[in-house]
Amino acid sequence: MTELTPIIAIDGPAGSGKSSVSKEVARRRGFGLLDTGAGYRALSWHLRATGVDTTDSDAVIAALGGFDLRLGLDPEDRSVSVGGVDVTTEIRTPEVTAAIAGFVKVPEVRAYLNAIYRRLAGESGLGGVVIEGRDITSVVAPDAPVRILMTASPEVRAARRGQELGADTATVHAAIVARDASDSHVLDLAEADPGVDVVDSTELDFEQTIEAVTAVIDRKLEAHNGR
Ligand code: DC
Repeated sequence: MTELTPIIAIDGPAGSGKSSVSKEVARRRGFGLLDTGAGYRALSWHLRATGVDTTDSDAVIAALGGFDLRLGLDPEDRSVSVGGVDVTTEIRTPEVTAAIAGFVKVPEVRAYLNAIYRRLAGESGLGGVVIEGRDITSVVAPDAPVRILMTASPEVRAARRGQELGADTATVHAAIVARDASDSHVLDLAEADPGVDVVDSTELDFEQTIEAVTAVIDRKLEAHNGR
């Protein structure tokens, strides 16, 4: 019997270090990396490009049939395309990001994207795939052998994002608090599911965070393989 690809499920809020840590862990381990936020972003881009009202649930659901998403698993190649058009850069604009809120709660949309994510990871043939997002530990891969919630205080997350974006910390802090509120339907920061390991990077630098996440992965995969 072929063994299913082990999934490393990593959830976390904006600025938790989730993306950079997931990428680095996948790179070091030779695992695939699946950025699920990129799928929501690409759909937002597609809807806007084809003139679909992103707040009209029925119209968004009808548009899913023509949404041709290409999302790779190579941590060194984060390119995303829709219908053959490279949208890697365009999906990061504030307009595309803001429009996601219009459809992010629609169950049909989430189920559609989740099916793509499960198929991509399951068919990868890789020794492991890191899937990062907001609802990976709870909805997309609740049976994953490794499930991690990355957190950090809003102040530290704002300082990190501010540095990345070259923006002042107070503005970024307000944006982060607003994003936590709008993401609260998919990510409960106060309470992780039982069996989810919490890595709080408030007091850790990048390398220490990698070490903490790697320690969880080693421990959980060892238990999984020895089952
Ligand atoms: O991680 P990100 O900033 O690229 O995510 C973009 C948006 O997509 C974010 O506002 C929340 C949403 N998202 C989600 O609802 N579920 C996921 N698994 C990943 C992202």
